[in-house]
Amino acid sequence: MREGPATVIRREDYQAPAFWIRTVDLTFDLDPAKTIVTSKLRIERNPNAPQGQALKLDGEELTLLRVLADGDSVSFRHEPGQLVIDNPPAPDSFTLEIRNAIAPEKNSALSGLYTSGGGFFTQCEAEGFRRITYFLDRPDVMAVFTVTLRADKHKYPVLLCNGNLVEQTELDHGRHCAKWHDPFPKPSYLFALVGADLVAREQRIRTRAGKDHLLQVYVRRGDLDKTEHAMNSLMASVAWDEARFGLSLDLERFMIVAVGDFNMGAMENKGLNIFNTKYVLASPATATDQDFFGIESVVGHEYFHNWTGNRITCRDWFQLSLKEGLTVYRDQEFSADMAGTPSARAVRRIDDVRGLRAAQFPEDAGAMAHPVRPDSYVEINNFYTATVYEKGAEVVRMMATLVGRDGFRRGMDLYFQRHDGQAVTCDDFAQAIADANPGSALSANLAQFKRWYAQAGTPTLHAEGIYDAPTQTFTLTLRQTCAPSPGQAEKHPYVIPVAMGLVDAEGRALPLQLEEEDAPTGTERVLVLTDGVQAFRFVNIDAEVVPSLLRGLSAPVHLRDGLDDAALLQLLNHDHDPFNRWEAGQRLALNRMLQAVEHRAAEAVLDEAFVAAMRAVLRHPTLDAAFKELVLTLPSESYVAEQCASVDPQRIHVVRELMRRQLAARLHADWIWAWEQHQVREGYRPDAQQSGRRALANLALRNLVLHAVETADPVWQGRAYQRVKDAAQMTDRFGALEALVGAHAQLAEPALAHFHALFADDALVIDKWFSLQAMAPEPIGEGAGQVLRRVKALMQHPDFTLKNPNRARSLIGGFCHGNPAAFHRADAAGYIYWADRVLELDAINPQIASRIARAMDRWNHLAEPLRSAAREAIKRVAAKPELSPDVREIITKALE
Ligand code: ARG
Ligand code: ZN
Repeated sequence: MREGPATVIRREDYQAPAFWIRTVDLTFDLDPAKTIVTSKLRIERNPNAPQGQALKLDGEELTLLRVLADGDSVSFRHEPGQLVIDNPPAPDSFTLEIRNAIAPEKNSALSGLYTSGGGFFTQCEAEGFRRITYFLDRPDVMAVFTVTLRADKHKYPVLLCNGNLVEQTELDHGRHCAKWHDPFPKPSYLFALVGADLVAREQRIRTRAGKDHLLQVYVRRGDLDKTEHAMNSLMASVAWDEARFGLSLDLERFMIVAVGDFNMGAMENKGLNIFNTKYVLASPATATDQDFFGIESVVGHEYFHNWTGNRITCRDWFQLSLKEGLTVYRDQEFSADMAGTPSARAVRRIDDVRGLRAAQFPEDAGAMAHPVRPDSYVEINNFYTATVYEKGAEVVRMMATLVGRDGFRRGMDLYFQRHDGQAVTCDDFAQAIADANPGSALSANLAQFKRWYAQAGTPTLHAEGIYDAPTQTFTLTLRQTCAPSPGQAEKHPYVIPVAMGLVDAEGRALPLQLEEEDAPTGTERVLVLTDGVQAFRFVNIDAEVVPSLLRGLSAPVHLRDGLDDAALLQLLNHDHDPFNRWEAGQRLALNRMLQAVEHRAAEAVLDEAFVAAMRAVLRHPTLDAAFKELVLTLPSESYVAEQCASVDPQRIHVVRELMRRQLAARLHADWIWAWEQHQVREGYRPDAQQSGRRALANLALRNLVLHAVETADPVWQGRAYQRVKDAAQMTDRFGALEALVGAHAQLAEPALAHFHALFADDALVIDKWFSLQAMAPEPIGEGAGQVLRRVKALMQHPDFTLKNPNRARSLIGGFCHGNPAAFHRADAAGYIYWADRVLELDAINPQIASRIARAMDRWNHLAEPLRSAAREAIKRVAAKPELSPDVREIITKALE
């Protein structure tokens, strides 16, 4: 556990460091029980910082062996989490040599240097380097690293570090040595080392810039056949960043290493990305289309960090979104470009928005709400959030919308011209984009736009349209509000780009001309709302129209436009914007769900108009399968919950399950048709087209099995079971298993057993097996509590371990975060389970515990008696004196 008191760090307290570290010479004598780290630092006083300050190096859980300054002993003292040298020998510049010991095999927090599967790996972002050696562990201190690794050659034949390999030698006693040099000055959080028994897939490439590079993907022996997709994704990423942003690979060698124990998705260490195996390993037999997609997106993300994060990094951790928001935006654009067609791009955007609404909107409305650029934190690891990442990406996307695609490219160019090699702030980024686009809506409103970085909470955009037939005008009044969030009672108006069009009854997109303009400017445009209320009057509108607003979710806001069923149906049938077409379908479903939830009309029968509209989409001759699958999937239970003032998860679950059954029954013939029409018979490709077909076929199968269980028809259950046994690839196999489990089919149990037996040796597949059961729908009526009983039993399964983050997340995270109706129970059993796991995990790995702790973020919005029961459970955790700062911060905020 971290040393020192849980202090609040504030953005306004930022001070430049008193010293710089120019070069670092590190030597590691790797040993699981006792690794010796020798560090030689070239230190210079920062002439621009207040003079006379002591040198305070960060260090945690280190055994100090010696300290020398310019070769001599020097007096030092300890403060909590720091080693303090009050009087450095030569005040302006000196060399410090530190030797310390660490115990990687005891490092269950997986931050710093740790062991996994018999090898050594590191994770230093955000503050893990201080768990390796004493250092100025802050991103604005950038040094050139030279690293020597020594280890047993037989056990650790591969020794990797950032940069270039400069020397490899044999040592006595079966040990060997590798020396690495990274020419790029970097902050300590980008340091990485690996010492393990690994093999690599290699690929030589020549980039557009004409340089040759070696790409490597390192995995454990036996996993090489699962690295092709990661390598393809890496090559595609290199090509994309050159083509779209003119950014080339700056290293001779670029390495990706997969590790089975990892707290997050992956890490962009300079030249040596370390990845969770989940985002590297895939074969058609073991990974679903979604897994393949996840790999492409994370490989892209980490690669793109090489420029947005590494070449230009963050001045301090409050600026985290500078690199994360921008890099998520870049990886989303990469994925959209890889998807290809406009329709496939829209599918990607819908998927991203679903993620934003599922994770970020609730965060922004809960106890942990914080701005994209937070003002304070206790534990920075708690701020690797959907807000910093996904909302941060939306902020970048809005800038791109306001300055246009070419304007954004100019802005990026200017950003690199100004700041390459520096550690900067979100202000610097926004300024560069604005300065490159004088006269744009962004530069005209920059200070106001930056409220997106400063204010927490999801604003609401209210819209009202009035058509006046005699004057042929359509007046659109836009108004914005934003609810208070912790510490921010009052919000000021945002700059909201509203992409829009007007659609008439025949589906025509009308030319858009505002009354102050001479001519129309096309049929789609971006209105920029800057005031609390603003009216836009469109002229020459010769028919009643429905406004299609916020196309592509052009701003991360809630929309309240009061459109009725008829208007939504018109958009579902005709909108030229596929995103809003999908959105119209979701809103039709959501309205019906909310009505049933509020009126406690469980038996609410779906009206024919809605069913017919869904059928029309499903049977549509030209729409893509992937798009159809998105339209025909009902809004998630958690999204419905977000719309309720007082949340009753059981009730929402019942309503959604009953609606699901109705769609299964009333579209029965259509589902059979969809199933038959969308089988993929060619060889497996994880592309947009094939994966869309599989997604729709799998949705059809879920509906068919659901209906079969209702009607006690054995045929479709048998077919699904057969598919679990003999599918050629994982997407179909897992889809069939999901269909059986999701319908409580009798064959679900044997199917689960069969599936486990087939993949007993594949950790990532077994993770899926755990999470599928943790997220299984709770049966309606009798059988409530079934999922929790199952989850508890699975904790005793020989394959279960709390120590592996992927495994813990699959089962515990799946249940607490991904199964609201099973988790939120009136008897509080879910909450007791939660509290026990948070405490248990906290002793092992605070970062993972803290993520699970966040399942209670929104307890305050629960209906009674859940709300009181939740509060009790949170208090029970709060009462533990020895909580990590990570969990303490989450729990304290929940109770505030
Ligand atoms: N920078 C990494 C990424 O987004 C995430 C690492 C965060 N790690 C942590 N322990 N908080 O690609
Ligand atoms: Zn990132």
